[in-house]
Amino acid sequence: MEAIARANTNIALIKYWGKRDEKLFLPMNSSVSITLDQFYTTTSVQFSPNLAADIFLLNGQQENEEETRKISRFLDKIRVLAGKDVHAIVDSMNSVPTAAGFASSASGFAALAAAASKAIGLNLDERELSIIARQGSGSACRSIYGGFVEWQKGEREDGLDSFAQPLLDEKEWDLTIFSVLVESKRKKVLSREGMRRTVETSPFYSGWLKAVEEELVIAKSAIANKDFEVIGNVLEKNALKMHATTLGADPPFLYWQGATFDVMEQVWELRANGIGAYFTIDAGPNVKIICERKDEKRVQAALSELPTVQKIFVCHPGQGVTYLSTSDFKNRKEEE
Ligand code: DP6
Repeated sequence: MEAIARANTNIALIKYWGKRDEKLFLPMNSSVSITLDQFYTTTSVQFSPNLAADIFLLNGQQENEEETRKISRFLDKIRVLAGKDVHAIVDSMNSVPTAAGFASSASGFAALAAAASKAIGLNLDERELSIIARQGSGSACRSIYGGFVEWQKGEREDGLDSFAQPLLDEKEWDLTIFSVLVESKRKKVLSREGMRRTVETSPFYSGWLKAVEEELVIAKSAIANKDFEVIGNVLEKNALKMHATTLGADPPFLYWQGATFDVMEQVWELRANGIGAYFTIDAGPNVKIICERKDEKRVQAALSELPTVQKIFVCHPGQGVTYLSTSDFKNRKEEE
């Protein structure tokens, strides 16, 4: 009863920001993302009747009780679905460098959902996998698919209509996504806590919900038409609005730091000089910049000029979940 799956991380163009149900990870709004080709999690799950408890290894190290409990809680959902009361060894390799400023929870729970459900004998389709992955971390439901993806918020209380759907295959639109790592000084407010505080206390949150509906329509039509200027403009505006809600929260907070702003200004400068580059920012100080492939070198050069930029990772649209053989996984572990 072993299966191995790999999932890539994703970056939201229209953000998921706020939950209507924290237990089931049901969002207040729909979101749109690009799955990336660079950063992924590969997870092997082996269920065995001989295990007295779940064991969780991350990058070859056994994780502590708290981290293992999170995995067990997630596996419980899969055990209930399969009607099997059996424990597992979860062996996970993260190629998402913590320093890359990408949350590994999206690729992590997408890979775990796929490997665990296959290992236990469930034959789930992608939609069902997306619903399961969502219950580990909301953004994970989008990593089931490659390319451009929409997570439909759904209306139902049981969450069965809250899942991701593919909008455009990764091979259909070749954009460049830079993940720019800046000098970080402060401890961050985790996205989970940040979105909760904003929903509960920010008077700007209702404005966010209203705006995001219109921005979703614009973003989806820009993706269908592969209109870069339109998607660029809407993704940057959407990110700014998401961050504006945090300033209205009580207590207020802001994910940006000085270096974040340096990058934002450089992007605006590029645009003033006729180069189409747009930024987005998640729940941290790092910035992601999106441009067309033809402008990749010029944008990279401009970003490299900034003294507060520590590292630049270059990504492109990537594929959805894939399954690996045991030998692929062993080779991969030996390489790392
Ligand atoms: C700002 O999916 O990490 O990156 O569902 O609580 O695990 P949980 O949150 P998570 O939040 C992502 C927030 C975001 C926007 C996005 O990816 O859409």
